[in-house]
Amino acid sequence: MSGCHVGPNAADGINLTTYAGIMDEVKPGNPGGSELYEVLFETGDDLMPPPPMAALSSAQKERIRLWIEQGANETNCAGACDSTSATTYTAVIAPMIQTNCIGCHQGTGASGGVRLTTYAEVSGAVNYSGLVDAVNGVNGRSQMPPSGRMSDCNVALLERWVRDGMPQ
Ligand code: HEC
Repeated sequence: MSGCHVGPNAADGINLTTYAGIMDEVKPGNPGGSELYEVLFETGDDLMPPPPMAALSSAQKERIRLWIEQGANETNCAGACDSTSATTYTAVIAPMIQTNCIGCHQGTGASGGVRLTTYAEVSGAVNYSGLVDAVNGVNGRSQMPPSGRMSDCNVALLERWVRDGMPQ
């Protein structure tokens, strides 16, 4: 929250608004060795959040412990990943491609000759250009996007969509 572990002038230099900042206080796989977890159990001024704020509930603490124990991954569960609604091209895949791919994969100069602007083009790239291998950077395909793999959530959604027969 504002005034605490936020931004460049964060308390104790601990900026908890970014994944990198949070990871400065975390040892993946080792909750007991992670400051981010330890401070939840301190006493007096060392307890976080400090009094008069309420301490985290045991359920909240357990959630943090489990996250660290499972590797403290940067996964994003906000939105569609948790959704039980159908993973369709229109609702999920098109916006994902728009954000992560379209800049290089449209028009006559599309990278690798692969255009990803329509359903036909995207499903064609899955069938003939190894799109799923490319988002995972495996089986001889260059990692796509080249700047680095998308979130686990996005990759999982894409794989689910293909498994389900690429519904429009
Ligand atoms: C910064 C530009 C850029 C972005 C963003 C990008 N690509 Fe590419 N893509 C390329 C280039 C360049 C190639 C061709 C070079 C190569 O195959 O190594 C390529 C090739 C491909 C291929 C063909 C691979 C092959 O081996 O023939 C696929 C499929 C692909 N991209 C899918 C995607 C998908 C899906 C995304 C988004 C998740 C994406 N790309 C984002 C630049 C980009």
